[in-house]
Amino acid sequence: MITPRLQQLNDYPFQRLADLLGGVVPPDAVVMSIGEPQHVPPPMVASILAEQAASWGKYPSANGTPAFRRAVADWLTRRFGLPDEMIDPDRMILPVAGTREALYMIAQAVRTERGGKAPAMLLPNPFYQVYAGAAAMAGAEPVFVPGADGVDSFPDFSALPAEILDRTALAYLCTPANPVGTVADIDLLVRAVATARRHGFLLAVDECYSEIWDRAAPAGALSACARLDGETDNVIVFHSLSKRSSVPGLRSGFVAGDPAIIAAFARLRAYGGAVTPLPIIAAATALWQDEAHVEENRALYRAKFDIAERILGDRFGFRRPEGTFFLWLDVGDGEAAALALWREAKIRVIPGAYMARAGADGINPGKRFIRAALVHGLATTERVLTRFTEIL
Ligand SMILES: Cc1ncc(COP(=O)(O)O)c(C=O)c1O
Repeated sequence: MITPRLQQLNDYPFQRLADLLGGVVPPDAVVMSIGEPQHVPPPMVASILAEQAASWGKYPSANGTPAFRRAVADWLTRRFGLPDEMIDPDRMILPVAGTREALYMIAQAVRTERGGKAPAMLLPNPFYQVYAGAAAMAGAEPVFVPGADGVDSFPDFSALPAEILDRTALAYLCTPANPVGTVADIDLLVRAVATARRHGFLLAVDECYSEIWDRAAPAGALSACARLDGETDNVIVFHSLSKRSSVPGLRSGFVAGDPAIIAAFARLRAYGGAVTPLPIIAAATALWQDEAHVEENRALYRAKFDIAERILGDRFGFRRPEGTFFLWLDVGDGEAAALALWREAKIRVIPGAYMARAGADGINPGKRFIRAALVHGLATTERVLTRFTEIL
């Protein structure tokens, strides 16, 4: 009765963590295992939702409102320095109910066979686990591509054998990268776009951490398209308000890019997509128009990384992430460290192995690491990181 494809899914990392540590999380625990920002959401969210309450009684349109699409197109143009007319709001933007469902569902929109074989889907390793679930449920062969230069570097898809690239239907890339916190440079993105075009696959770039950066605003895949020819062929990007505006519960993001893919995705989503309610679309429109709250948010993360730098120094391979709010620490054995932090201090972090898969060499590249999300306030961060050094 149940599809065997589900057997290919690992238990989701948080289920594996509950198996390791126990599922009961007491109120005084410090949960750093999940990337759920605890910063106060911008007050405009509550006021706009209240003002728009009458539209809870309406079915929303799957492509949002013209004002939403315009706000997103303007934001993309400003943020990534795109040419003025590059983004057509009506053909190239689609709201999604958080990027997680969209990252999953996009795998259903691409070809299910190439050259008579099951398609390949390329994934970085380590990676956000939804990509693997999406590939498995689409009947594709997931190809885990390790960083070209160590665990915290990016995969270089262009270096894969043509045999794999020619049957690739979709490649996921994530920058800034969860869990490792590095940022893809524009040359790498240009190469990835060119490879996708040469071999006729879709490049899906998860940029949901693009606004959580330390020293320099990261480039995105649309910057790479602008650099190449101003066209978005074969490329879509995923953006979210969850991290940018600290509203993971709002469930609001968007996809943007190649009009042919956006049209196909809209067609699929007309059947199976979660449509974003109109009050949420109105709040999202205002949030994409505002940068002040995002700058405040970034400043708070920077202050926390200052604390981390001061307390951790050069221990555990600490490196200030270029983007994201994750610490990715080399603790020798990630599971043992997660257990120790939990048992001794009720600090919940995730073993890096749960964010990765064993490669062809049988080695899981995340095994030595833990990932800890710096999503709490300054005082908690200081206290918890001090305990890290004592326990680890
Ligand atoms: C890399 C990455 N992509 C996508 C998401 C999904 O975010 P949302 O569905 O809230 O937009 C997350 C959430 O943690 C993430 O870490």
